[in-house]
Amino acid sequence: EFAASWQRAAAGEELDREDIVNLLAAAPGEEEEALYRLADGVRARMAGDEVHLRGVIEFSNYCRRRCCYCGLRADNARLHRYRLMPEDIVAVARQGVELGYGTIVLQSGEDPWYTAPVLAGIVREIKKMGVAVTLCVGERPREEYALWREAGADRYLLKHETANEELYARLHPGMSWQERLQCLQWLRELGYQVGSGNIIGLPGQTLADLADDLLLLRQLDVEMAGLGPFIPHPATPLAGEPAGSLELTYRVVATARLVIPFAHLPATTAVGTLAPNGRQKALQRGANVIMPNLTPTRYRADYQIYPNKICINEGPEDCRYCLEGMVRALGRRLGRGPGHTLKPIPA
Ligand code: 5AD
Ligand code: FES
Repeated sequence: EFAASWQRAAAGEELDREDIVNLLAAAPGEEEEALYRLADGVRARMAGDEVHLRGVIEFSNYCRRRCCYCGLRADNARLHRYRLMPEDIVAVARQGVELGYGTIVLQSGEDPWYTAPVLAGIVREIKKMGVAVTLCVGERPREEYALWREAGADRYLLKHETANEELYARLHPGMSWQERLQCLQWLRELGYQVGSGNIIGLPGQTLADLADDLLLLRQLDVEMAGLGPFIPHPATPLAGEPAGSLELTYRVVATARLVIPFAHLPATTAVGTLAPNGRQKALQRGANVIMPNLTPTRYRADYQIYPNKICINEGPEDCRYCLEGMVRALGRRLGRGPGHTLKPIPA
């Protein structure tokens, strides 16, 4: 079964749900190696050898949501909460631009303290620096997304988390999968380059669910997909659940490269958290992007979405030079410029 689906992928045929499940089920050894070889080749052809760095500023860990897997959930009273002031966010972004990043990602919990006009002002200031700006601040009304787009925001990251609507409902009290997709649809209509993605190894999740994740990403025609393993956080309802499998995560990343060949695929921090060489391996198995942390060191430990997150004691320049070394050691090179969408006809 694997061999037939691999052949179809190698021939560039459109993969169906069954093919995707077959690829995700690749056995350790020859099958996995064949999958990774194919994905790395498609990555080289579609994305080239450039690895794009996106400097991420985790500017607030306040969150109004209660996602069952996330350490920032509103119920986590043990967490020390912080907010960077708008002028500080702009200053950190400037530091990122000076470090050579072509994209600044503004990420936070869902924190209404940052009203739409406040965030629009921050976006405007950063856009003056000549870089791409990605927003990652969760679900907001369409008008707010529109305002930020007018302010110059280029991209928006909103993971669908899981394509299994029932699992989504269980893990996101008070939220709706339909509303999430509505937000993604609005972002698309407003002309954002859209990033989505999902968690791998959630309790109760099957390979068919993961195949549905990749099919949804293809249907959404995403410019980017963040794919990371589930890592149980002690202060959440999923504390006792097993972590997602690193090997399965690699298979999902590799298969994603085959299903959505033009998408930017980051080697996620979560992969780097489960294994010291995790991000390197992801970059050799389909990924072409890394998202270095730009957050000032004193706040990093408090942005623990999951435990043992890497780079907690490092500063912005540490991650910058660490990653340049990593990219070079792999025989690849740093991306120049903003690293916009790889699609043949940009949105
Ligand atoms: N393990 C893995 N990923 C997680 N995320 C949140 N909590 C966890 C966890 N425990 C991911 C979600 C979210 C992103 C900010 O982090 O996909 O969208
Ligand atoms: Fe932060 Fe390597 S990426 S130290």
